[in-house]
Amino acid sequence: MAISAKDLCKYYSVGGQCVRALDGVSLDIRDGEYVTVVGASGSGKSTLMNILGCLDLPSSGSYFLDGEDVSLLPDSRLSEIRGVKIGFIFQSFNLIPGLTALENVELPLIYRHVPKKTRRELAMSALESVKLSDRALHRPSEMSGGQQQRTAIARAIAAAPSLILADEPCGNLDSRSGAEVLDILSALNKSGKTIVMITHNEQTAKQAQRLIRISDGKLSG
Ligand SMILES: Nc1ncnc2c1ncn2[C@@H]1O[C@H](COP(=O)(O)OP(=O)(O)OP(=O)(O)O)[C@@H](O)[C@H]1O
Ligand SMILES: [Mg+2]
Repeated sequence: MAISAKDLCKYYSVGGQCVRALDGVSLDIRDGEYVTVVGASGSGKSTLMNILGCLDLPSSGSYFLDGEDVSLLPDSRLSEIRGVKIGFIFQSFNLIPGLTALENVELPLIYRHVPKKTRRELAMSALESVKLSDRALHRPSEMSGGQQQRTAIARAIAAAPSLILADEPCGNLDSRSGAEVLDILSALNKSGKTIVMITHNEQTAKQAQRLIRISDGKLSG
């Protein structure tokens, strides 16, 4: 899934003051690439990820996803793109506490109207690919942080999206669980997924083929 962003700006007005969260970001990512965006807290990483993930629109600039001009699309099409083409992984896992791992992974497939039996098969195979078959019936509170994040990865990949966006996926994990998550992301990239991972950790950022730095809403090499 190719990404092409040109001169993206995102401004927020808070208490009469203008915050330039993104300030002229241009970025091209080829299909199948693995890119990390590294920067300090407040540098604009999540703002960028939200725009790349069609969760938010820029104040100005253009964004083409898979050749499609995102700024021209209605909300219904944007949520369809999110559901079908993009898998999201967040720092705080964002699992639903009352559901089992399997049910959490099934959720996006329900939104996509996948029939029940296929849904279960796809969700089980996603859990298997992150080595969690034996935790399918556990709720988030009955799993370790690393297992919860692997469940979140299974949820992100169950519907076979071609782009994976991960915002600090190892931020809440110990180094061993973090390394497991990074290994899974590398394997996903080898299987053809385009991956954009956001981190403030230089070591984590070195995982990728390409490292992009962001500071004060601007990118540098
Ligand atoms: N909804 C909002 N309203 C106003 N300002 C915002 C909003 N969201 C983000 N900002 C500001 O935009 C800037 C970039 O925020 P962003 O969340 O993208 O940073 P980040 O790089 O993800 O930081 P962190 O590493 O702490 O998650 C910050 O200065 C923040 O205060
Ligand atoms: Mg952030």
